[in-house]
Amino acid sequence: MRLDKFLADAGIGSRSQLRGLIRGGRVAVNGTVCKSADAKVVETDRITLDGEVIAYEKFVTVMINKPEGYLSATADERGDKIVTELLDERLQRMDLKPAGRLDKDSTGLLVLTNDGALIHSVISPTRHVVKRYEVTLASPLPADASARFAEGITLEDGYRCLPGQLVYEPGTLRAVICIREGKFHQVKRMVAALGSTVLTLHRAKIGALSLDETLQPGEYRRLTDAEIALLLFSEQ
Ligand code: URA
Repeated sequence: MRLDKFLADAGIGSRSQLRGLIRGGRVAVNGTVCKSADAKVVETDRITLDGEVIAYEKFVTVMINKPEGYLSATADERGDKIVTELLDERLQRMDLKPAGRLDKDSTGLLVLTNDGALIHSVISPTRHVVKRYEVTLASPLPADASARFAEGITLEDGYRCLPGQLVYEPGTLRAVICIREGKFHQVKRMVAALGSTVLTLHRAKIGALSLDETLQPGEYRRLTDAEIALLLFSEQ
């Protein structure tokens, strides 16, 4: 690949910024300054910028503890805050997209990646990845709520959900919900079908991947290879 593409993929800057850096003699390939943006390099070459090694990463995947008030999107024309704005500048240039969505007022585990295959394996409707949500409710649920979840809730538009799991202590206002689909506002609509309203919704798990509890709202970290494997290959 071209040297400027290598650096652009690594999130170092725009193509025009990179041409400036390269022409300025700040980039070296295997110890020799290289001033041509179109020089051919390979992933294993040792590329440095101002002496600092730029590691080649084919894909970058992070988990973020999504705070309330952010859209799970990469751009929004209405001027809403978007979750990718929480990433550092270098990651912002790496074109990460959410693998599945959380509503603007929802919080918790969101995976952002530039690996299309990983996004597909998380959101593919045929894979039925289980998502675990912790919710607070405006009013108690009916006594048969868990049984109705297990059978498959019918939403207001007539859609019959796949069987889900509701763990709920009768009379309380907290519940844990596990579902294998990701329809628009699905959890809120399932709870509405039971006659209550979701006040807060927090995603704790996607498949076998749990939110790192040390991440404060808005904080993120890269996934380990083992965690990526959990998303790609684990039995659901
Ligand atoms: N279901 C919802 O209703 N909202 C979310 O953000 C996620 C699942």
